Amino acid sequence: MTAAVNIADLRLQAERRLPRAVFDYIDGGAEDEVTMRANTQAFRDVTLRPRGAVVTKECDLSTTVLGTRLALPFLLGPVGSTRLFYPRGEMRAAEAAAAAGTVYALSTLTGSSIEDVRSASSGPLWYQLYLVGGREVATAAIARARRAGYSALVVTTDTAVAGLRERDLRNGVIELVGSDLLARVPHTLQFLARPRWLAGFLRDGGMMSFPNVVIDGKPMRYADVGAMLERAAVGWDDFGWIREAWGGPIVAKGVHTGEDAERAIRAGADAIVVSNHGGRQLDGVAATLRVLPEVVAAVNGRAEVFLDGGIRRGSDVVKALCLGANAVLIGRAYAYGLGAAGGPGVSRAIEILRTDIVRTLKLLGCSSVAGLGREFVDVPAASAQSG
Ligand SMILES: Cc1cc2nc3c(=O)[nH]c(=O)nc-3n(C[C@H](O)[C@H](O)[C@H](O)COP(=O)(O)O)c2cc1C
Repeated sequence: MTAAVNIADLRLQAERRLPRAVFDYIDGGAEDEVTMRANTQAFRDVTLRPRGAVVTKECDLSTTVLGTRLALPFLLGPVGSTRLFYPRGEMRAAEAAAAAGTVYALSTLTGSSIEDVRSASSGPLWYQLYLVGGREVATAAIARARRAGYSALVVTTDTAVAGLRERDLRNGVIELVGSDLLARVPHTLQFLARPRWLAGFLRDGGMMSFPNVVIDGKPMRYADVGAMLERAAVGWDDFGWIREAWGGPIVAKGVHTGEDAERAIRAGADAIVVSNHGGRQLDGVAATLRVLPEVVAAVNGRAEVFLDGGIRRGSDVVKALCLGANAVLIGRAYAYGLGAAGGPGVSRAIEILRTDIVRTLKLLGCSSVAGLGREFVDVPAASAQSG
């Protein structure tokens, strides 16, 4: 891996190593990708208000999230299909998160099992739940996550159906995972053009299935995921049985409004992730940073509030914390690192963000993430109205 100076460099390196269909699966969003772009733009629109002539020798980045002390104010959020980005991608990312002192959240839709990821990591792990396969299948996975010592359950609420990711359709993703061999042929050249990736993919066992979605004793096949997701929508009334089956902290992921934050709290959520799934689901919703103040106000200290979407720089993390987030989740920022270079790529992504945050704190004249607040940022008028 040549030295990546920032997350954009890791993105370019991932683009060079991965086949088009895999890179675009990470990089793309829904429909016109308006929300995906808005997420990153919103961070640029918020400006910083530094205090000059403040000498800050050490910066404390530690944060407590759901009772667990973390070395960093950002967590690795759930990203599906990471085994396609790099052999045993989930395990490599979990190791890197543990080494950095933060959480790795394992998606339901990944190619490594709950238990294998646990064995790869000595750090805190969360499990992200989709109800694919129905209640019984989900209950079995919840029990496995509990036995393996995962410390929080993330319930994703924004995936009533899969978003329309047009890049995936153009790259032949449906044909590639389908059973019609002839239909696959025109789309296979992109894989031959990436021999390094292809060798790793074949060594890792080829096309992954989903070991955390066990249906009739077998892991769900990749080809079935779209149809299964359509029947897996979660409702607030599911939170009752999920809470009972899990018996630990629950995080509701995918909240955009104060009203839904209220519903999540009434459903028993201990934390909320202000998230639009990185602009991969409903295109046209507002940037997460813009709706964060509304959600923080509605929650009013009754739950922890996290944010994800568009974080590419440490200063983005700082801005979200200034506007009331307890911590943030990163998605593509580490997925690019994994696609570029496996575990070392994820570690590089984490290190880039960590050193960015330290530098930003020193330039702001603030010695800890706990000391950040609204006084360190200016929010453009349109944002201020929603806050
Ligand atoms: C390739 C990819 C796969 C994802 N898979 C999941 C998933 O399985 N479950 C989930 O709750 N969120 C999933 N997400 C959404 C992320 O958890 C997160 O909300 C999003 O990536 C944040 O935006 P960012 O990528 O701009 O940081 C996925 C995101 C990406 C990029």
